[in-house]
Amino acid sequence: MVAVVGASGVRGAQVARQLLELGDHVVATARDTERLAPLVDLAPDRCTTCRVDLRNPGAGDGLLEVVRSGPGRLDAVVLASGVVAFGDLVDTPDDVIEELFVTNVVGPLWLLRRLVPELAERRGVVVSISAVVAERPLPGMAAYSASKAALSSADEALRRELRRRGIRVVDARPPHTETGLVHRALSGSPPTLPQGARPVDVARRIVDILDDPDITALAAEDFDAT
Ligand SMILES: NC(=O)c1ccc[n+]([C@@H]2O[C@H](COP(=O)([O-])OP(=O)(O)OC[C@H]3O[C@@H](n4cnc5c(N)ncnc54)[C@H](OP(=O)(O)O)[C@@H]3O)[C@@H](O)[C@H]2O)c1
Repeated sequence: MVAVVGASGVRGAQVARQLLELGDHVVATARDTERLAPLVDLAPDRCTTCRVDLRNPGAGDGLLEVVRSGPGRLDAVVLASGVVAFGDLVDTPDDVIEELFVTNVVGPLWLLRRLVPELAERRGVVVSISAVVAERPLPGMAAYSASKAALSSADEALRRELRRRGIRVVDARPPHTETGLVHRALSGSPPTLPQGARPVDVARRIVDILDDPDITALAAEDFDAT
């Protein structure tokens, strides 16, 4: 069973959809689970939903309950959730900076520390989606870039820490993707961006990670190869 956190988003929905098409059991999460109805319709017997708001430290407990009451154990978690903001730092409100870090870094760590024991039982996989800006931070995106670099840094530490428990942690740093995320920014307007990657292609690379034990990170240029 694979938990897709942020399955209401464009990237997360694509990942969940592809997993369901491959026959996997999926626990799809969102803050509003009604948004997950199209995924449930795809495979009502294999798609379970769970409300997860990463701003809540205990969100992982609810996810664990859903996993344990389901038909299988937890083989993998795909962290496809996240928020973005644009603009000069002086124009970025304090609460936006806080939300970027809570949603993009702190929440995933709160969640993972609860899921690790369950994942260890299955020698599971964590795919954490940071971003190309973790490697190449951009002006006008200082707080977002820093939140993604922090997540990427945690992924690298956890890659080594959790290997001892048999868990593979993969930091996936996709390039700009045409998901419309830039138009849902917490604040500010996006810069002019080149045409992004297709969500379906990026999702395929993310799904491939789950079955390839040799992959421990996927940098932006690795996605270009799709
Ligand atoms: N699009 C790009 O160009 C790009 C490039 C590199 C990396 N990324 C990363 O890819 C991931 C997916 O983004 P996307 O492009 O698919 O954007 P998206 O369609 O807006 O999806 C964002 C997802 O994050 C969830 N989310 C937001 N705040 C949350 C919270 N407090 N608790 C739980 N879930 C929350 C949303 O759920 P709700 O339905 O509850 O709002 C949604 O499912 C993000 O981490 C993003 O930073 C995107």
